[in-house]
Amino acid sequence: MGHDAIAVIDFGGQYAHLIATKVRRLRVLAEIRQPEDDIELFRNYKGIILSGSPSLSAFGEDSVYNKGIYDLDVPILGFCFGHQEIAKHYGGTVVHGGREWGSADLQVVGDSPLFAGLSTVERVFMSHFDSVTSVGPGFREVGYTSLGEGGQAHRFAAIESPALRRYGFQFHPEVDDTVHGGEMIANFVLGVCGCQPSWTMERYVDERVEQVRRQVGDQSVFLLASGGVDSTVAAVLLGRAIGPERLHLLHVDNGLMRKDESRDVLEAFRAFGLERNLHFIDASDTFLAALAGAVEPEQKRKIIGNTFIEVFEREARQLGIERHLLGQGTIYPDTIETGGTKRADTIKTHHNRVPVIEQMLAEGRVVEPLADLYKVEVRELGEKLGIPHALLWRHPFPGPGLGVRLLCSNGADRRDGFDAIEPAVAAVAARHGVAAMALPIKSVGVKADLRSYEHPVLLSGDAPWEQLVQAAGQLFKEVPGINRCIWNMGPAAPRTVRPLAATVTRERLDLLRDADHLVMEGLRRHGLYGDIWQCPTVLVPMEVDGVGREFVIVRPIHSERAMTATPAPLPAALCDELRQQILALPGVSGLALDVTTKPPGTIEWE
Ligand code: XMP
Repeated sequence: MGHDAIAVIDFGGQYAHLIATKVRRLRVLAEIRQPEDDIELFRNYKGIILSGSPSLSAFGEDSVYNKGIYDLDVPILGFCFGHQEIAKHYGGTVVHGGREWGSADLQVVGDSPLFAGLSTVERVFMSHFDSVTSVGPGFREVGYTSLGEGGQAHRFAAIESPALRRYGFQFHPEVDDTVHGGEMIANFVLGVCGCQPSWTMERYVDERVEQVRRQVGDQSVFLLASGGVDSTVAAVLLGRAIGPERLHLLHVDNGLMRKDESRDVLEAFRAFGLERNLHFIDASDTFLAALAGAVEPEQKRKIIGNTFIEVFEREARQLGIERHLLGQGTIYPDTIETGGTKRADTIKTHHNRVPVIEQMLAEGRVVEPLADLYKVEVRELGEKLGIPHALLWRHPFPGPGLGVRLLCSNGADRRDGFDAIEPAVAAVAARHGVAAMALPIKSVGVKADLRSYEHPVLLSGDAPWEQLVQAAGQLFKEVPGINRCIWNMGPAAPRTVRPLAATVTRERLDLLRDADHLVMEGLRRHGLYGDIWQCPTVLVPMEVDGVGREFVIVRPIHSERAMTATPAPLPAALCDELRQQILALPGVSGLALDVTTKPPGTIEWE
């Protein structure tokens, strides 16, 4: 296959993947490597990038790594911790101090190839405690930052040794806040390392098809087809490689899908010519029976996960999974998060880690044709395979589906802390010219990386969007016990609200499906579906002014990676349409738009 490739050594900094992504965008393959990997694994790369790390180079933390890389005759570029390690290795000094955080202006000195085509002052992103204070023989400073007006210069923010082809940036070119970071990485990868940008999707498809054919031989493959982007692309790729006769697909309807979703998924697979061995099981009764009476969010999640395992094991054995290879739509970040790297601390429990699958994994009987791709690359591959754009760019949808978005309650009026919360909320709201009411229910949120379970505040009034978002921000700052703010879209500000007892039922799910469908159609009608990252619709069992049973909340957000989110405004015309349509659904007591950032709210309500 022979593509030029770059190794990214992951020292545990949060941006190692971003570095790999930025390199791949240049059509050059980038692979994540571990610091202690054998030197043999590095021999075929045309360049090496050392990532940042939470460790402190000045104290020699994390300094046990394969220093044999420095003996290789390939260019090496380090960022932050990596920069400090390069400086130290070649006789420079690193001290604990000179900390910078956020944007800084890099004054470029000389004519380093890394800054070719850029200005003499570049906006860069800093995040460090340690600093390089001197460099060894053959090295020179090619950039320094000024710490604001009258501040001292921070030396050695960029260094190089042209003879050795060693380079270091104290800043992070991989994050978007470094305005021309992409150009700097391109200067290294394409310029200094001389990589050919040959890693194109067209070539990738052909190579992958060949590889799957070799691996599968004359066997057949079994794949769980949820209808999500990854499993769909994997199915179509496998279909192209081995043909529909030898590809078995199983789609399970857990009863927690969107309106007509299973029907659409099956139709799509038929359209791809993969209907030959397409198996469908409607397990909604099993899931609903298991969920009967459950109220707590974590309990619901556990039940859904366990029921899935039961249903999957039963069906897969019935379809003779043991006779086949197992196809999986695992993508690159999944392999990293499930122990592919020693440094990953987030371990996602994937549906597809059930005993029968674990067994097949242990036997090496798994085909994962997307395992070295990122999500955006999977979508690009899907386009090359002719999968419709609308299918590839669908909003993310949680595994436990609408089970997450259908809030349940034992009917308890949860007013703990209201003596302090209510006056504080009223005072902040008054300053922002809106009315506000803390709601006697709780939902999941996230604060300082920790889960919270706190009250939402309902804002009412005819205020402009910015004013609502500002009021919400101020409430989160000033009032403890609050993790969300929603804006009333109903005709009048509610006077009284009362939580009602409710669990997961088909009837409630159907109502949520209808409301969600109206929201999705509305976004499409107004051409907003593609601009918005995700837009959960949520049902809260709550009566308003003595009327109705279900309060509907719409949560449109903008986000890049779902780690953080900002609320997205909806045009007035769409708000009007949703008001008319959703408030007319049977049993709906009210409608609100979520104006909460993440943090402190999560994207999903639970
Ligand atoms: P939160 O609610 O934590 O969501 O802000 C972040 C992103 O993750 C999605 N999400 C899930 N996806 N299984 C999934 O596959 C899950 O259990 C799950 N829970 C949340 C959520 O939709 C958002 O995109």
